[in-house]
Amino acid sequence: MNKNKKGFVLWFTGLSGAGKSTIADGVFEVLKTNGIKIERLDGDVVRENLTKSLGFTKEDRDENIRRIGFVANLLSRNEVGVIASFISPYQKQREELQRNVNNYIEIYVNASLEVCEARDPKGLYKKARKGEIKNFTGISDPYDEPQNPALELRTDKATPEECIAEVINFISKKIYS
Ligand code: ADX
Repeated sequence: MNKNKKGFVLWFTGLSGAGKSTIADGVFEVLKTNGIKIERLDGDVVRENLTKSLGFTKEDRDENIRRIGFVANLLSRNEVGVIASFISPYQKQREELQRNVNNYIEIYVNASLEVCEARDPKGLYKKARKGEIKNFTGISDPYDEPQNPALELRTDKATPEECIAEVINFISKKIYS
């Protein structure tokens, strides 16, 4: 892999439980091992720190993604690679990222709602079905499918290792060729 200094933002979008964090973590490790200057931004961690006061109304999600996009852009334009994983459910939010973020590369982590709900790693779908969590993406809040992602991963058909390899292969060609 050619390690030319180049900022970029790999933006993983998809339903909760689709596998965004798992794949993004794997991609991060491979790039880090290759000596690439890289930073990781993940939904649960960022919401605990940078955007703690925000919830899951449309307004709050828009503000969450806007702030994260701002930080991601600062890093990217200073030649740091960013691995970001957020549900980022609305098409309009992602169009804004595309416009405002330096070298924005959208990756759709696609698994059907049925599969995500069956996985339910945090037990949140169960709570959402019972009405204990409001505005839950896929259940009581929309997820607009990406119209033109740079890459789409089917985590219900391929293993995490295969998906990670697919991303590495993609960016090797797109960024480091
Ligand atoms: S986003 O919509 O603003 O992009 P983000 O990725 O930061 O969402 O946070 C999603 C995480 O918050 C989920 O993985 C889940 O753990 C948690 N969460 C809590 N409430 C909700 C909700 N109503 N809808 C979706 N995720 C929720």
